[in-house]
Amino acid sequence: MIKKNMHFDVPAADVIKSRHSVRTYTSEALSEEIKTKLTSYAKDIKGPFTSKIRLELIDDADIAAKAGGKLGTYGVIKGARAYIAGVMEKGEHSEEQLGYCLERLVLFATSLGLGTCWLGGTFKKSEFAKLVNPSENELIPIVTPVGYGGSRRSIVESLMRAGVGSDRRKPWSELFFNQGFDKPLKRSEAGRYEQALELLRLAPSASNKQPWRILRDGSTYHFYLKAAKGYSSAFGFNIQKIDMGIAMCHFETAALESEIQGNWEVRPQGFYPATEDVEYIVSWIGK
Ligand SMILES: Cc1cc2nc3c(=O)[nH]c(=O)nc-3n(C[C@H](O)[C@H](O)[C@H](O)COP(=O)(O)O)c2cc1C
Repeated sequence: MIKKNMHFDVPAADVIKSRHSVRTYTSEALSEEIKTKLTSYAKDIKGPFTSKIRLELIDDADIAAKAGGKLGTYGVIKGARAYIAGVMEKGEHSEEQLGYCLERLVLFATSLGLGTCWLGGTFKKSEFAKLVNPSENELIPIVTPVGYGGSRRSIVESLMRAGVGSDRRKPWSELFFNQGFDKPLKRSEAGRYEQALELLRLAPSASNKQPWRILRDGSTYHFYLKAAKGYSSAFGFNIQKIDMGIAMCHFETAALESEIQGNWEVRPQGFYPATEDVEYIVSWIGK
């Protein structure tokens, strides 16, 4: 069953709409109070799968003591004083679990007025590893800076946003379908799920590729992955399955706020129709 204690103090729609990747930070450090809020919220996050993940806050004292005062991001992140590292044990659905749980923390941080930026590629893993000590079974697929966004974007940041079209999302007709991938689901047909689907559509994804494809069948929503060829395998873990977990988090958060109950289930392999270019991941069974 889905946990219900996941709302923020502000409406989830406002939080989701205000989140965007922040790559340029002011020098203001996180207060002890904010750090405690983040770590205690993180401790209580439960994902929909059983795989083990941990979310570690790395603050400026850690960075000074163990990383010589700076963590490498290939010049992408400027001024960040703290990070959250997403660590996972490799296993079934571990990427989706990490995506879901870390996005919940990202949205909580957003609700506190903090900026974040998912990083799956542009960070120096060996430097972060010194701070979070992954075991033999663990990977650090993702980190995010966490702090106060500066008022101006750096040139690198502006170029990156323009390069992947960060301000645009695919239209409903490319993402949502009704009982068959040949039948797009119109926004006017989504009924009480309109908000959940719209807030899923605004989710962040690696290189803004938006690999989520959702197939409705009554009040059941099947989540499929449309992988970009050769993209995921470049990382050593499936980065687009992390995108799927993020999308699940947005959908569920919005559904619960629309007072829709439901739970996640993985249906048996091959049970649901897939076309050649989509992979079935999970289903939301609405009540
Ligand atoms: C799993 C994941 C990995 C990402 N990796 C990087 C990265 O390595 N470097 C980077 O600058 N941005 C990265 N991003 C940020 C995306 O480019 C960004 O979320 C997307 O362009 C949409 O922009 P927005 O977050 O401002 O809405 C990543 C996002 C996700 C979800």
